[in-house]
Amino acid sequence: MDALIFLRVLVVYSCFIVSQGLKPPKIKPFHFSGELNVGLRTVVMCAVIDGSPPFDFQWLKDSRPLTSSGGRFSVESFNEFTSILTISDLDSESNGNYTCRVSNSAGSDEKSDSLNMRGFRTPTIKPFNFSGVLSEGRRTAVMCVVTDGDVPFTFSWFKDGKPLQSEEGHFSIQLFDEFTSILTIKKLDSDSNGNYTCRVTNSVGSDEKSDILIMRGNAKENPFIKAMAGIYFYIAVVLIHSAAIEGSKPPRIKPFNFSGELSQGLRTAVMCVIIDGDRPFDFIWFKDGAPLVPQEGHFSVESVNKFTSILTIEHLNSDSNGNYSCRVTNSVGSDQKSDVLMMKGEIYLLSLRDIRRNLFPFGESSGICNNFNMAMHLFICFLVAIFMQIHLVEGLKPPKIMPFHFSGELNEGLRVAVMCVIIDGDRPLDFKWFKDGDLLSPEKSHFSVQIFNEFTSILTIEQLSADSNGNYTCRVTNSAGSDEKSDVLTMKGETWNINRLRHKGIV
Ligand SMILES: *[C@@H]1O[C@H](CO)[C@@H](O)[C@H](O)[C@H]1NC(C)=O
Ligand SMILES: *[C@@H]1O[C@H](CO)[C@@H](O)[C@H](O)[C@H]1NC(C)=O
Ligand SMILES: *[C@@H]1O[C@H](CO)[C@@H](O)[C@H](O)[C@H]1NC(C)=O
Ligand SMILES: *[C@@H]1O[C@H](CO)[C@@H](O)[C@H](O)[C@H]1NC(C)=O
Ligand SMILES: *[C@@H]1O[C@H](CO)[C@@H](O)[C@H](O)[C@H]1NC(C)=O
Ligand SMILES: *[C@@H]1O[C@H](CO)[C@@H](O)[C@H](O)[C@H]1NC(C)=O
Repeated sequence: MDALIFLRVLVVYSCFIVSQGLKPPKIKPFHFSGELNVGLRTVVMCAVIDGSPPFDFQWLKDSRPLTSSGGRFSVESFNEFTSILTISDLDSESNGNYTCRVSNSAGSDEKSDSLNMRGFRTPTIKPFNFSGVLSEGRRTAVMCVVTDGDVPFTFSWFKDGKPLQSEEGHFSIQLFDEFTSILTIKKLDSDSNGNYTCRVTNSVGSDEKSDILIMRGNAKENPFIKAMAGIYFYIAVVLIHSAAIEGSKPPRIKPFNFSGELSQGLRTAVMCVIIDGDRPFDFIWFKDGAPLVPQEGHFSVESVNKFTSILTIEHLNSDSNGNYSCRVTNSVGSDQKSDVLMMKGEIYLLSLRDIRRNLFPFGESSGICNNFNMAMHLFICFLVAIFMQIHLVEGLKPPKIMPFHFSGELNEGLRVAVMCVIIDGDRPLDFKWFKDGDLLSPEKSHFSVQIFNEFTSILTIEQLSADSNGNYTCRVTNSAGSDEKSDVLTMKGETWNINRLRHKGIV
Protein backbone atom coordinates (compact mmCIF):
# COMPACT_ATOMS: atom_id res chain seq x y z
CA MET A 1 0.00 0.00 0.00
CA ASP A 2 2.71 2.40 0.99
CA ALA A 3 4.51 1.56 -2.17
CA LEU A 4 1.42 2.42 -4.22
CA ILE A 5 1.00 5.77 -2.48
CA PHE A 6 4.68 6.44 -3.03
CA LEU A 7 4.27 5.59 -6.71
CA ARG A 8 1.29 7.93 -7.02
CA VAL A 9 3.15 10.75 -5.36
CA LEU A 10 6.08 10.10 -7.65
CA VAL A 11 3.91 10.22 -10.76
CA VAL A 12 2.15 13.41 -9.66
CA TYR A 13 5.46 14.95 -8.72
CA SER A 14 7.13 14.09 -11.99
CA CYS A 15 4.13 15.36 -13.91
CA PHE A 16 4.48 18.57 -11.95
CA ILE A 17 8.17 18.72 -12.85
CA VAL A 18 7.48 18.12 -16.50
CA SER A 19 4.77 20.73 -16.72
CA GLN A 20 6.92 23.12 -14.73
CA GLY A 21 9.80 22.50 -17.11
CA LEU A 22 7.81 23.10 -20.29
CA LYS A 23 6.93 26.73 -20.04
CA PRO A 24 5.34 28.44 -23.04
CA PRO A 25 7.44 31.13 -24.70
CA LYS A 26 7.22 34.83 -23.90
CA ILE A 27 8.54 37.35 -26.40
CA LYS A 28 9.96 40.76 -25.77
CA PRO A 29 8.09 43.40 -27.80
CA PHE A 30 10.06 44.75 -30.76
CA HIS A 31 9.87 48.09 -32.53
CA PHE A 32 10.91 49.43 -35.87
CA SER A 33 12.85 52.54 -35.00
CA GLY A 34 15.38 54.97 -36.28
CA GLU A 35 15.61 56.29 -39.78
CA LEU A 36 13.22 54.49 -42.10
CA ASN A 37 13.85 55.83 -45.55
CA VAL A 38 13.71 54.52 -49.05
CA GLY A 39 16.65 52.30 -49.89
CA LEU A 40 17.79 51.93 -46.30
CA ARG A 41 17.82 48.74 -44.29
CA THR A 42 16.09 48.02 -41.01
CA VAL A 43 16.52 45.24 -38.51
CA VAL A 44 14.31 43.97 -35.70
CA MET A 45 14.95 41.28 -33.19
CA CYS A 46 12.49 38.80 -31.77
CA ALA A 47 13.85 37.61 -28.47
CA VAL A 48 12.29 34.98 -26.22
CA ILE A 49 12.61 36.15 -22.63
CA ASP A 50 10.96 33.18 -20.98
CA GLY A 51 9.94 29.60 -21.85
CA SER A 52 11.52 26.27 -22.58
CA PRO A 53 13.39 25.49 -25.78
CA PRO A 54 13.20 24.26 -28.46
CA PHE A 55 11.29 27.11 -30.08
CA ASP A 56 9.86 27.50 -33.49
CA PHE A 57 10.10 31.05 -34.92
CA GLN A 58 7.81 32.36 -37.60
CA TRP A 59 7.65 35.86 -39.15
CA LEU A 60 4.47 37.23 -40.68
CA LYS A 61 3.67 40.37 -42.59
CA ASP A 62 0.03 41.51 -42.49
CA SER A 63 -0.83 38.06 -41.11
CA ARG A 64 0.76 36.20 -44.04
CA PRO A 65 3.99 34.25 -43.70
CA LEU A 66 6.98 36.23 -44.97
CA THR A 67 8.36 34.98 -48.20
CA SER A 68 11.85 35.99 -49.11
CA SER A 69 10.61 37.93 -52.14
CA GLY A 70 13.47 39.23 -54.23
CA GLY A 71 15.87 38.80 -51.32
CA ARG A 72 14.21 41.74 -49.53
CA PHE A 73 13.68 39.89 -46.29
CA SER A 74 16.17 37.80 -44.51
CA VAL A 75 15.57 35.89 -41.29
CA GLU A 76 18.46 34.58 -39.28
CA SER A 77 18.50 32.84 -35.94
CA PHE A 78 21.08 34.43 -33.75
CA ASN A 79 20.82 31.81 -31.03
CA GLU A 80 18.09 29.45 -29.89
CA PHE A 81 16.24 32.37 -28.22
CA THR A 82 16.62 35.02 -30.86
CA SER A 83 15.56 35.51 -34.44
CA ILE A 84 16.55 38.55 -36.46
CA LEU A 85 14.55 39.96 -39.36
CA THR A 86 16.35 42.21 -41.81
CA ILE A 87 14.38 44.19 -44.39
CA SER A 88 16.59 45.72 -47.03
CA ASP A 89 15.88 48.27 -49.73
CA LEU A 90 12.97 49.85 -47.86
CA ASP A 91 10.21 51.23 -50.02
CA SER A 92 6.48 51.76 -49.74
CA GLU A 93 5.88 48.05 -50.19
CA SER A 94 7.86 47.38 -47.05
CA ASN A 95 5.22 49.11 -44.96
CA GLY A 96 2.99 46.73 -43.05
CA ASN A 97 2.25 44.99 -39.82
CA TYR A 98 5.06 42.58 -38.94
CA THR A 99 4.54 39.77 -36.47
CA CYS A 100 6.96 37.38 -34.81
CA ARG A 101 5.33 34.18 -33.60
CA VAL A 102 7.19 31.75 -31.37
CA SER A 103 5.88 28.39 -30.33
CA ASN A 104 7.03 25.40 -28.33
CA SER A 105 5.15 22.29 -27.28
CA ALA A 106 3.59 24.15 -24.34
CA GLY A 107 2.19 27.09 -26.26
CA SER A 108 2.98 30.14 -28.30
CA ASP A 109 3.32 33.90 -28.12
CA GLU A 110 3.43 36.67 -30.70
CA LYS A 111 4.30 40.32 -30.88
CA SER A 112 3.70 42.76 -33.71
CA ASP A 113 4.80 46.15 -34.83
CA SER A 114 3.83 48.29 -37.79
CA LEU A 115 6.49 49.55 -40.13
CA ASN A 116 5.49 52.95 -41.36
CA MET A 117 8.06 54.69 -43.41
CA ARG A 118 7.96 58.38 -42.93
CA GLY A 119 7.80 60.50 -45.99
CA PHE A 120 5.30 58.22 -47.60
CA ARG A 121 2.36 60.14 -48.83
CA THR A 122 -1.22 59.09 -48.54
CA PRO A 123 -3.17 59.01 -51.78
CA THR A 124 -5.15 61.98 -53.04
CA ILE A 125 -7.86 61.33 -55.58
CA LYS A 126 -9.06 63.75 -58.19
CA PRO A 127 -12.81 64.33 -57.82
CA PHE A 128 -14.82 62.60 -60.49
CA ASN A 129 -18.12 63.55 -62.00
CA PHE A 130 -20.91 61.75 -63.78
CA SER A 131 -21.58 64.40 -66.36
CA GLY A 132 -23.14 64.76 -69.73
CA VAL A 133 -26.28 63.06 -70.91
CA LEU A 134 -27.34 60.31 -68.56
CA SER A 135 -30.31 58.48 -69.93
CA GLU A 136 -31.62 54.98 -70.23
CA GLY A 137 -29.51 52.66 -72.33
CA ARG A 138 -26.51 54.98 -72.52
CA ARG A 139 -23.05 54.09 -71.40
CA THR A 140 -21.12 56.17 -68.92
CA ALA A 141 -17.77 55.94 -67.26
CA VAL A 142 -15.88 57.70 -64.53
CA MET A 143 -12.23 57.64 -63.78
CA CYS A 144 -10.62 57.56 -60.39
CA VAL A 145 -7.16 59.08 -60.67
CA VAL A 146 -4.61 59.32 -57.90
CA THR A 147 -2.90 62.68 -58.25
CA ASP A 148 -0.59 62.35 -55.30
CA GLY A 149 0.75 59.64 -53.02
CA ASP A 150 3.06 56.68 -53.17
CA VAL A 151 2.45 53.38 -54.94
CA PRO A 152 1.21 50.68 -54.59
CA PHE A 153 -2.46 51.60 -54.40
CA THR A 154 -5.51 49.44 -53.90
CA PHE A 155 -8.65 50.70 -55.62
CA SER A 156 -12.13 49.83 -54.49
CA TRP A 157 -15.46 51.02 -55.81
CA PHE A 158 -18.68 51.24 -53.85
CA LYS A 159 -22.25 51.95 -54.74
CA ASP A 160 -24.32 53.31 -51.85
CA GLY A 161 -21.67 51.96 -49.51
CA LYS A 162 -21.71 48.41 -50.89
CA PRO A 163 -18.62 47.06 -52.67
CA LEU A 164 -18.97 47.04 -56.43
CA GLN A 165 -17.58 44.27 -58.61
CA SER A 166 -17.31 43.88 -62.34
CA GLU A 167 -20.55 42.32 -63.53
CA GLU A 168 -21.00 40.91 -66.97
CA GLY A 169 -23.17 43.27 -69.00
CA HIS A 170 -23.53 45.83 -66.27
CA PHE A 171 -20.42 47.20 -64.55
CA SER A 172 -16.84 46.94 -65.53
CA ILE A 173 -13.96 48.00 -63.36
CA GLN A 174 -10.61 48.20 -65.04
CA LEU A 175 -7.24 49.15 -63.71
CA PHE A 176 -5.81 51.41 -66.36
CA ASP A 177 -2.42 51.96 -64.82
CA GLU A 178 -1.12 51.97 -61.29
CA PHE A 179 -2.69 55.39 -60.71
CA THR A 180 -6.02 55.01 -62.45
CA SER A 181 -9.13 52.87 -62.18
CA ILE A 182 -12.12 53.19 -64.45
CA LEU A 183 -15.68 52.30 -63.65
CA THR A 184 -17.89 51.81 -66.68
CA ILE A 185 -21.64 51.41 -66.43
CA LYS A 186 -22.44 49.65 -69.64
CA LYS A 187 -26.13 50.38 -69.94
CA LEU A 188 -27.72 52.97 -67.73
CA ASP A 189 -31.05 51.97 -66.26
CA SER A 190 -33.02 53.01 -63.21
CA ASP A 191 -30.99 50.62 -61.08
CA SER A 192 -27.85 52.52 -61.96
CA ASN A 193 -28.87 55.51 -59.85
CA GLY A 194 -26.89 55.80 -56.67
CA ASN A 195 -23.96 57.24 -54.81
CA TYR A 196 -20.70 55.90 -56.27
CA THR A 197 -17.48 56.02 -54.33
CA CYS A 198 -13.92 55.30 -55.27
CA ARG A 199 -11.57 54.51 -52.41
CA VAL A 200 -7.82 54.32 -52.80
CA THR A 201 -5.59 52.91 -50.12
CA ASN A 202 -1.86 52.63 -49.77
CA SER A 203 0.23 51.52 -46.85
CA VAL A 204 -0.04 54.84 -45.05
CA GLY A 205 -3.59 55.95 -45.65
CA SER A 206 -6.54 56.27 -47.93
CA ASP A 207 -8.73 58.77 -49.75
CA GLU A 208 -12.15 58.55 -51.24
CA LYS A 209 -14.34 60.60 -53.52
CA SER A 210 -17.99 60.13 -54.39
CA ASP A 211 -20.47 61.33 -56.91
CA ILE A 212 -24.16 60.74 -57.27
CA LEU A 213 -25.55 59.38 -60.49
CA ILE A 214 -29.10 60.47 -61.19
CA MET A 215 -30.65 59.58 -64.50
CA ARG A 216 -33.25 61.85 -65.93
CA GLY A 217 -36.84 60.59 -65.98
CA ASN A 218 -36.34 57.84 -63.47
CA ALA A 219 -39.33 55.54 -64.01
CA LYS A 220 -38.44 53.10 -61.28
CA GLU A 221 -41.39 53.51 -58.93
CA ASN A 222 -44.39 53.74 -61.21
CA PRO A 223 -45.44 50.49 -62.92
CA PHE A 224 -47.67 52.33 -65.41
CA ILE A 225 -44.88 54.66 -66.50
CA LYS A 226 -42.58 51.68 -66.58
CA ALA A 227 -44.97 49.82 -68.88
CA MET A 228 -45.32 52.90 -71.07
CA ALA A 229 -41.58 53.27 -71.10
CA GLY A 230 -41.36 49.66 -72.24
CA ILE A 231 -43.67 50.39 -75.15
CA TYR A 232 -41.82 53.57 -76.06
CA PHE A 233 -38.58 51.67 -75.78
CA TYR A 234 -39.91 49.07 -78.20
CA ILE A 235 -41.01 51.78 -80.64
CA ALA A 236 -37.65 53.46 -80.25
CA VAL A 237 -35.86 50.19 -80.99
CA VAL A 238 -37.92 49.75 -84.13
CA LEU A 239 -37.23 53.33 -85.18
CA ILE A 240 -33.53 53.10 -84.42
CA HIS A 241 -33.42 49.81 -86.23
CA SER A 242 -34.97 51.28 -89.36
CA ALA A 243 -32.69 54.29 -89.00
CA ALA A 244 -29.75 51.95 -88.77
CA ILE A 245 -30.62 50.50 -92.12
CA GLU A 246 -30.16 53.97 -93.61
CA GLY A 247 -26.99 54.66 -91.71
CA SER A 248 -25.29 54.48 -88.36
CA LYS A 249 -25.31 57.07 -85.59
CA PRO A 250 -22.62 59.74 -85.21
CA PRO A 251 -20.57 59.63 -82.02
CA ARG A 252 -21.39 61.61 -78.91
CA ILE A 253 -18.77 62.34 -76.32
CA LYS A 254 -19.21 62.86 -72.62
CA PRO A 255 -17.81 66.25 -71.54
CA PHE A 256 -14.58 65.96 -69.62
CA ASN A 257 -13.14 68.17 -66.98
CA PHE A 258 -9.70 68.92 -65.62
CA SER A 259 -10.69 69.15 -62.00
CA GLY A 260 -9.15 68.77 -58.60
CA GLU A 261 -5.71 69.87 -57.65
CA LEU A 262 -3.69 71.11 -60.57
CA SER A 263 -0.30 72.19 -59.48
CA GLN A 264 3.27 71.91 -60.59
CA GLY A 265 4.62 68.37 -60.83
CA LEU A 266 1.33 66.62 -60.19
CA ARG A 267 -0.20 64.15 -62.60
CA THR A 268 -3.59 64.56 -64.15
CA ALA A 269 -5.67 62.64 -66.61
CA VAL A 270 -8.89 63.11 -68.47
CA MET A 271 -11.03 60.57 -70.19
CA CYS A 272 -12.85 60.91 -73.46
CA VAL A 273 -15.80 58.51 -73.45
CA ILE A 274 -18.20 57.88 -76.27
CA ILE A 275 -21.68 57.58 -74.85
CA ASP A 276 -23.49 57.01 -78.08
CA GLY A 277 -22.79 56.21 -81.69
CA ASP A 278 -21.69 53.37 -83.86
CA ARG A 279 -18.28 51.83 -84.27
CA PRO A 280 -15.62 52.08 -85.55
CA PHE A 281 -14.41 55.32 -83.98
CA ASP A 282 -11.33 57.37 -84.50
CA PHE A 283 -9.97 59.37 -81.55
CA ILE A 284 -7.80 62.47 -81.92
CA TRP A 285 -6.59 64.71 -79.12
CA PHE A 286 -5.74 68.36 -79.71
CA LYS A 287 -4.04 70.98 -77.65
CA ASP A 288 -4.84 74.57 -78.64
CA GLY A 289 -6.11 73.28 -81.97
CA ALA A 290 -2.96 71.35 -82.90
CA PRO A 291 -2.95 67.53 -82.81
CA LEU A 292 -1.29 66.33 -79.64
CA VAL A 293 1.79 64.24 -80.12
CA PRO A 294 2.40 61.82 -77.25
CA GLN A 295 5.73 62.62 -75.66
CA GLU A 296 7.65 60.26 -73.46
CA GLY A 297 7.36 61.47 -69.87
CA HIS A 298 4.97 64.25 -70.74
CA PHE A 299 1.81 63.32 -72.59
CA SER A 300 0.47 59.89 -73.16
CA VAL A 301 -2.68 58.82 -74.93
CA GLU A 302 -4.00 55.34 -74.50
CA SER A 303 -7.22 53.69 -75.46
CA VAL A 304 -8.81 51.63 -72.73
CA ASN A 305 -11.46 50.08 -74.89
CA LYS A 306 -13.28 50.87 -78.11
CA PHE A 307 -15.20 53.68 -76.44
CA THR A 308 -12.62 55.29 -74.23
CA SER A 309 -9.40 57.17 -74.69
CA ILE A 310 -7.33 58.61 -71.87
CA LEU A 311 -4.98 61.53 -72.01
CA THR A 312 -2.45 61.62 -69.20
CA ILE A 313 -0.22 64.57 -68.42
CA GLU A 314 2.59 63.12 -66.36
CA HIS A 315 4.00 66.20 -64.72
CA LEU A 316 2.04 69.39 -64.81
CA ASN A 317 4.12 72.40 -65.59
CA SER A 318 3.55 75.80 -67.11
CA ASP A 319 3.69 74.27 -70.60
CA SER A 320 0.75 72.03 -69.77
CA ASN A 321 -1.71 74.92 -69.75
CA GLY A 322 -3.93 75.01 -72.80
CA ASN A 323 -7.22 74.16 -74.36
CA TYR A 324 -7.46 70.37 -74.79
CA SER A 325 -9.95 68.78 -77.13
CA CYS A 326 -10.95 65.25 -77.90
CA ARG A 327 -12.45 64.64 -81.32
CA VAL A 328 -14.13 61.40 -82.25
CA THR A 329 -15.10 60.53 -85.77
CA ASN A 330 -16.98 57.66 -87.33
CA SER A 331 -18.28 57.09 -90.82
CA VAL A 332 -21.28 59.38 -90.35
CA GLY A 333 -20.02 62.24 -88.27
CA SER A 334 -17.92 63.51 -85.45
CA ASP A 335 -18.15 65.11 -82.04
CA GLN A 336 -15.71 67.16 -80.05
CA LYS A 337 -15.44 68.27 -76.45
CA SER A 338 -12.88 70.61 -74.94
CA ASP A 339 -11.70 71.81 -71.59
CA VAL A 340 -9.13 74.39 -70.64
CA LEU A 341 -6.39 73.29 -68.28
CA MET A 342 -5.16 76.14 -66.21
CA MET A 343 -2.82 75.48 -63.37
CA LYS A 344 -3.17 77.60 -60.28
CA GLY A 345 -1.34 80.87 -60.43
CA GLU A 346 -0.58 80.47 -64.09
CA ILE A 347 -1.23 82.93 -66.85
CA TYR A 348 -2.68 81.53 -70.03
CA LEU A 349 -0.22 82.86 -72.57
CA LEU A 350 -1.34 80.87 -75.56
CA SER A 351 -0.60 83.27 -78.35
CA LEU A 352 2.91 84.20 -77.30
CA ARG A 353 3.97 80.60 -76.79
CA ASP A 354 2.55 79.54 -80.09
CA ILE A 355 4.23 82.32 -82.00
CA ARG A 356 7.55 81.45 -80.47
CA ARG A 357 7.14 77.76 -81.09
CA ASN A 358 6.20 78.27 -84.71
CA LEU A 359 8.92 80.74 -85.51
CA PHE A 360 12.02 79.12 -84.08
CA PRO A 361 13.91 77.52 -85.54
CA PHE A 362 12.91 79.40 -88.66
CA GLY A 363 14.81 76.98 -90.91
CA GLU A 364 12.04 74.41 -90.75
CA SER A 365 9.28 76.98 -90.61
CA SER A 366 6.19 76.16 -92.53
CA GLY A 367 4.63 79.46 -91.51
CA ILE A 368 5.27 83.05 -92.51
CA CYS A 369 8.65 82.59 -94.08
CA ASN A 370 8.42 80.01 -96.82
CA ASN A 371 6.85 81.63 -99.85
CA PHE A 372 9.63 84.11 -100.63
CA ASN A 373 12.54 83.64 -102.90
CA MET A 374 15.80 82.77 -101.25
CA ALA A 375 17.41 86.19 -100.64
CA MET A 376 14.18 87.90 -99.70
CA HIS A 377 13.31 84.92 -97.54
CA LEU A 378 16.47 85.08 -95.51
CA PHE A 379 16.39 88.86 -95.16
CA ILE A 380 12.78 89.10 -94.06
CA CYS A 381 13.00 86.10 -91.81
CA PHE A 382 16.05 87.70 -90.24
CA LEU A 383 14.13 90.93 -89.56
CA VAL A 384 11.12 89.04 -88.27
CA ALA A 385 13.33 86.95 -86.05
CA ILE A 386 15.04 89.99 -84.54
CA PHE A 387 11.72 91.75 -84.09
CA MET A 388 10.18 88.69 -82.46
CA GLN A 389 13.22 88.15 -80.32
CA ILE A 390 12.91 91.65 -78.85
CA HIS A 391 9.24 91.12 -78.22
CA LEU A 392 9.72 87.70 -76.79
CA VAL A 393 12.37 88.86 -74.38
CA GLU A 394 9.92 91.50 -73.22
CA GLY A 395 7.17 88.91 -72.96
CA LEU A 396 9.25 86.34 -71.11
CA LYS A 397 8.28 85.77 -67.52
CA PRO A 398 10.98 85.85 -64.86
CA PRO A 399 11.31 82.68 -62.77
CA LYS A 400 9.49 82.18 -59.49
CA ILE A 401 10.77 79.60 -57.03
CA MET A 402 8.79 77.56 -54.57
CA PRO A 403 10.20 78.02 -51.03
CA PHE A 404 12.12 75.03 -49.75
CA HIS A 405 12.81 73.86 -46.22
CA PHE A 406 15.27 71.58 -44.57
CA SER A 407 12.97 69.42 -42.52
CA GLY A 408 12.72 66.10 -40.80
CA GLU A 409 15.47 64.55 -38.82
CA LEU A 410 18.71 66.44 -39.18
CA ASN A 411 21.33 64.37 -37.47
CA GLU A 412 25.01 63.62 -37.93
CA GLY A 413 25.67 61.26 -40.81
CA LEU A 414 22.19 61.41 -42.30
CA ARG A 415 21.45 62.39 -45.85
CA VAL A 416 19.30 65.39 -46.60
CA ALA A 417 17.98 66.82 -49.82
CA VAL A 418 16.06 69.91 -50.82
CA MET A 419 14.41 70.71 -54.06
CA CYS A 420 14.34 74.02 -55.85
CA VAL A 421 11.24 74.05 -58.04
CA ILE A 422 10.26 76.72 -60.51
CA ILE A 423 6.55 77.38 -60.28
CA ASP A 424 6.48 80.03 -62.95
CA GLY A 425 8.71 81.54 -65.60
CA ASP A 426 10.03 80.76 -69.02
CA ARG A 427 12.86 78.56 -70.14
CA PRO A 428 15.79 78.36 -70.46
CA LEU A 429 16.56 78.54 -66.76
CA ASP A 430 19.87 78.56 -65.01
CA PHE A 431 20.08 77.10 -61.48
CA LYS A 432 22.76 78.03 -58.96
CA TRP A 433 23.14 76.95 -55.33
CA PHE A 434 24.93 79.00 -52.69
CA LYS A 435 25.94 78.37 -49.12
CA ASP A 436 26.39 81.49 -46.98
CA GLY A 437 26.74 83.46 -50.19
CA ASP A 438 29.44 81.26 -51.75
CA LEU A 439 28.70 79.34 -54.91
CA LEU A 440 28.42 75.64 -54.14
CA SER A 441 30.56 73.57 -56.41
CA PRO A 442 29.35 69.98 -56.55
CA GLU A 443 32.95 68.78 -56.57
CA LYS A 444 33.03 69.84 -52.93
CA SER A 445 32.89 66.28 -51.63
CA HIS A 446 29.66 65.87 -49.74
CA PHE A 447 27.28 67.96 -51.88
CA SER A 448 25.61 66.95 -55.04
CA VAL A 449 23.45 69.06 -57.30
CA GLN A 450 21.26 67.33 -59.84
CA ILE A 451 18.96 68.76 -62.46
CA PHE A 452 15.89 66.61 -62.08
CA ASN A 453 14.02 68.18 -64.96
CA GLU A 454 14.12 71.58 -66.58
CA PHE A 455 12.11 73.01 -63.70
CA THR A 456 13.72 71.31 -60.76
CA SER A 457 17.14 71.16 -59.20
CA ILE A 458 17.91 68.99 -56.21
CA LEU A 459 20.65 69.66 -53.70
CA THR A 460 21.72 66.64 -51.71
CA ILE A 461 24.00 66.68 -48.70
CA GLU A 462 25.27 63.15 -48.51
CA GLN A 463 26.30 63.11 -44.88
CA LEU A 464 25.32 65.82 -42.46
CA SER A 465 28.13 67.10 -40.33
CA ALA A 466 28.79 70.23 -38.32
CA ASP A 467 30.19 71.80 -41.47
CA SER A 468 26.85 71.39 -43.21
CA ASN A 469 25.19 74.10 -41.11
CA GLY A 470 24.62 77.29 -43.01
CA ASN A 471 22.31 79.43 -45.06
CA TYR A 472 21.56 77.73 -48.40
CA THR A 473 20.23 79.64 -51.38
CA CYS A 474 18.89 78.54 -54.71
CA ARG A 475 19.04 81.21 -57.39
CA VAL A 476 17.39 80.79 -60.77
CA THR A 477 17.92 83.09 -63.68
CA ASN A 478 16.47 83.46 -67.14
CA SER A 479 16.79 86.26 -69.65
CA ALA A 480 13.90 88.14 -68.02
CA GLY A 481 15.11 88.10 -64.44
CA SER A 482 15.92 85.96 -61.47
CA ASP A 483 14.52 84.74 -58.18
CA GLU A 484 16.06 83.18 -55.12
CA LYS A 485 14.92 81.39 -51.99
CA SER A 486 16.95 80.48 -48.93
CA ASP A 487 16.73 78.31 -45.88
CA VAL A 488 19.01 77.86 -42.93
CA LEU A 489 20.16 74.36 -42.06
CA THR A 490 20.77 73.85 -38.35
CA MET A 491 21.52 70.41 -37.07
CA LYS A 492 20.11 69.53 -33.71
CA GLY A 493 21.98 71.22 -30.87
CA GLU A 494 23.94 68.60 -29.03
CA THR A 495 25.25 66.55 -31.86
CA TRP A 496 26.31 69.73 -33.49
CA ASN A 497 28.25 71.10 -30.53
CA ILE A 498 30.02 67.89 -29.67
CA ASN A 499 30.95 67.47 -33.24
CA ARG A 500 32.28 70.93 -33.62
CA LEU A 501 34.41 70.41 -30.52
CA ARG A 502 35.55 67.08 -31.92
CA HIS A 503 36.47 68.80 -35.14
CA LYS A 504 38.56 71.30 -33.30
CA GLY A 505 40.32 68.55 -31.39
CA ILE A 506 38.88 69.62 -28.03
CA VAL A 507 37.09 66.37 -27.26
C1 LIG B 1 -0.88 43.21 -36.51
O1 LIG B 1 -1.09 41.83 -36.70
C2 LIG B 1 -1.41 41.15 -35.48
C3 LIG B 1 -1.46 39.66 -35.78
O2 LIG B 1 -1.98 39.38 -37.03
C4 LIG B 1 -2.73 41.66 -34.90
O3 LIG B 1 -3.02 41.04 -33.71
C5 LIG B 1 -2.58 43.15 -34.65
O4 LIG B 1 -3.81 43.70 -34.23
C6 LIG B 1 -2.14 43.86 -35.93
N1 LIG B 1 -1.87 45.24 -35.61
C7 LIG B 1 -2.31 46.25 -36.39
C8 LIG B 1 -1.93 47.61 -35.96
O5 LIG B 1 -2.95 46.03 -37.40
C1 LIG C 1 -19.83 67.96 -61.44
O1 LIG C 1 -20.64 68.55 -62.44
C2 LIG C 1 -21.67 69.39 -61.93
C3 LIG C 1 -22.46 69.89 -63.07
O2 LIG C 1 -22.37 69.04 -64.15
C4 LIG C 1 -21.05 70.54 -61.13
O3 LIG C 1 -22.08 71.27 -60.51
C5 LIG C 1 -20.14 70.01 -60.07
O4 LIG C 1 -19.45 71.07 -59.45
C6 LIG C 1 -19.11 69.08 -60.68
N1 LIG C 1 -18.29 68.52 -59.63
C7 LIG C 1 -16.97 68.41 -59.74
C8 LIG C 1 -16.31 67.78 -58.59
O5 LIG C 1 -16.38 68.78 -60.74
C1 LIG D 1 -21.94 59.20 -50.83
O1 LIG D 1 -21.14 58.22 -50.18
C2 LIG D 1 -20.04 58.75 -49.47
C3 LIG D 1 -19.23 57.60 -48.94
O2 LIG D 1 -20.03 56.58 -48.44
C4 LIG D 1 -20.51 59.68 -48.35
O3 LIG D 1 -19.42 60.24 -47.69
C5 LIG D 1 -21.35 60.79 -48.97
O4 LIG D 1 -21.88 61.61 -47.95
C6 LIG D 1 -22.48 60.19 -49.79
N1 LIG D 1 -23.17 61.29 -50.44
C7 LIG D 1 -24.47 61.46 -50.33
C8 LIG D 1 -25.03 62.67 -50.97
O5 LIG D 1 -25.17 60.64 -49.73
C1 LIG E 1 -15.91 71.29 -64.60
O1 LIG E 1 -15.67 71.53 -63.21
C2 LIG E 1 -15.93 72.87 -62.82
C3 LIG E 1 -15.59 72.98 -61.35
O2 LIG E 1 -14.74 71.97 -60.93
C4 LIG E 1 -17.39 73.23 -63.07
O3 LIG E 1 -17.56 74.61 -62.81
C5 LIG E 1 -17.75 72.96 -64.52
O4 LIG E 1 -19.12 73.14 -64.70
C6 LIG E 1 -17.39 71.54 -64.88
N1 LIG E 1 -17.66 71.32 -66.29
C7 LIG E 1 -18.23 70.20 -66.72
C8 LIG E 1 -18.40 70.12 -68.19
O5 LIG E 1 -18.61 69.31 -65.97
C1 LIG F 1 -11.15 75.26 -77.01
O1 LIG F 1 -11.07 74.68 -78.30
C2 LIG F 1 -12.34 74.36 -78.86
C3 LIG F 1 -12.09 73.66 -80.18
O2 LIG F 1 -10.98 74.13 -80.83
C4 LIG F 1 -13.17 75.62 -79.02
O3 LIG F 1 -14.43 75.29 -79.53
C5 LIG F 1 -13.34 76.29 -77.66
O4 LIG F 1 -14.04 77.53 -77.80
C6 LIG F 1 -11.97 76.53 -77.04
N1 LIG F 1 -12.18 77.04 -75.70
C7 LIG F 1 -11.56 78.13 -75.24
C8 LIG F 1 -11.90 78.55 -73.86
O5 LIG F 1 -10.75 78.75 -75.92
C1 LIG G 1 20.32 83.73 -46.22
O1 LIG G 1 20.88 84.24 -47.42
C2 LIG G 1 19.98 85.04 -48.17
C3 LIG G 1 20.65 85.39 -49.48
O2 LIG G 1 22.01 85.65 -49.32
C4 LIG G 1 19.59 86.29 -47.37
O3 LIG G 1 18.69 87.06 -48.09
C5 LIG G 1 18.95 85.84 -46.06
O4 LIG G 1 18.65 86.96 -45.26
C6 LIG G 1 19.88 84.89 -45.34
N1 LIG G 1 19.16 84.37 -44.18
C7 LIG G 1 19.68 84.41 -42.95
C8 LIG G 1 18.81 83.87 -41.87
O5 LIG G 1 20.79 84.83 -42.75
